[in-house]
Amino acid sequence: MKILQAASEAVPLVKTGGLADVVGALPDALARAGVSSRLLLPGYPAVRAALQAPRTLAPLPCPWGGVAPRLVAGRLEPFAQAPAYVVVAPELYERPGGPYSDPTGAAWADNHRRFAPLAWAARALARGADTAWRPDVVHAHDWHAGLAPAALAHAGQPAASVMTVHNLAYQGLFPAQAFLDLDLPAAAWALEGLEFWGQVSFMKAGLQYAQAISTVSPRYAQEIQDPAMGCGLDGVLRAHRGGVAGVLNGVDYGVWHPRIDPHLRQRFDAHDLRGKSVCKAELQQAQGLRPDPQAMLMAVVSRLTSQKGLDLLLQVLPQALQHGAQLVVLGQGDAALEDGFAAAAKAYPGQVALRRAHDETLAHRVFAAADVVLVPSRFEPCGLTQLYAMAYGALPLVHHVGGLADTVVDTTLESLADDQATGLAFYRFDPSALASALRRAHLLWSRPAQWTQVQQRAMAQRFDWDRAAHAYVALYEQAIARRSALATLG
Ligand code: ADP
Ligand code: GLC
Repeated sequence: MKILQAASEAVPLVKTGGLADVVGALPDALARAGVSSRLLLPGYPAVRAALQAPRTLAPLPCPWGGVAPRLVAGRLEPFAQAPAYVVVAPELYERPGGPYSDPTGAAWADNHRRFAPLAWAARALARGADTAWRPDVVHAHDWHAGLAPAALAHAGQPAASVMTVHNLAYQGLFPAQAFLDLDLPAAAWALEGLEFWGQVSFMKAGLQYAQAISTVSPRYAQEIQDPAMGCGLDGVLRAHRGGVAGVLNGVDYGVWHPRIDPHLRQRFDAHDLRGKSVCKAELQQAQGLRPDPQAMLMAVVSRLTSQKGLDLLLQVLPQALQHGAQLVVLGQGDAALEDGFAAAAKAYPGQVALRRAHDETLAHRVFAAADVVLVPSRFEPCGLTQLYAMAYGALPLVHHVGGLADTVVDTTLESLADDQATGLAFYRFDPSALASALRRAHLLWSRPAQWTQVQQRAMAQRFDWDRAAHAYVALYEQAIARRSALATLG
């Protein structure tokens, strides 16, 4: 079975969030399951710089005129074991700013043109553009690749397609006239196609046309089929014949494990936590926090967006900082949240620190140093930081929703007695519920034997990519079978 992974991010080349961690880890896990898979990425500067022995396979459409994007095969240095495909289009990808937005943070106005070529590249490969490798399945990740299932379906389905939703809140919505730039037949502009309340929706295109749909945790798979959390697409999801599979993300323990992590000043594991104390002392010093081993160190490593629920944390900060607890925030994003945490750092010197940055090394150090990692998200498709927290012996404190609910066991009298507790959870998204979970964290912190019990249980958790890879293989088989059935019918 040959699988093309079409996505906009992959560690270590391009990362704005967990999507990159997932796309970076999946090909290896699939290889271990005996499946050949190759990446297809936009040619951002870092991707082009890593591209070796490039070979142009085909020009791609350019309905708006200008220089046509090219589909190029080569080897991407970090993924040297397998060839990869890149859409080379300097006009689209080689600009200052991020993958989705300009340097001011505003979405690029031509994002439909920037991501449609991923779909055309997938279609070209499915039609045999690379004579040495032709995918049986195109696995499209999030809206950036959402047009691929539509492009394949309208080209006679030369490969099956699987659509994975990493976050339904980002849909790739564009004005109707963008449709003219997509190189799709007029039939695609329909309720059963990619039209969504008079707009073009890349996410809907993926959901409508893919032979199989998945998302990144079982609970989120249920949640998004309900109007309350379906972002207007719950009906489309419920109507899909194959249902919505919930495949929980894994952790790449080759990158995220304190015993081998090269970013840490001192490494550690569950049997010997002395290194964790060193990491904590070092972080307190580096971030200007009071050097105090007894202070419960809470951490946030996050995009600062409304999804992550950090406005709730700002509301209960005085309670959170009781008994000398400390808070370090590593994140950037919405100005109101950045300003809120900056004000807190000013109001609580030595107790609150903010690093407004995306800093991979510091993220590793924060997980290693932290006692508690806060993830009070309004919604969370899967979430990776709570999983990294557990691996590094920090207790996740989470809102019981989506993948957070699927991965963290709240500390209660029962879960302690059964030795199942791995963190703390709150169930209603309101300040008093978060404050009471924080109080429970303080109380647990003051009981070292019980704290250590929960910490050890958390560190023993394994969220394996191999399990996820097997679930994806089953989905690929299902998609291939559906494609054959369609061919027989049609
Ligand atoms: P999301 O994808 O919604 O942002 P996840 O929890 O799935 O949330 O993944 C977030 C990823 O981004 C993790 O790898 C986390 O360590 C990383 N991350 C988030 N903010 C930062 C930051 N400011 N600096 C470095 N890494 C960050
Ligand atoms: C999205 C989600 C996050 C998930 C990640 C990887 O960014 O917000 O919950 O962990 O994708 O699947």
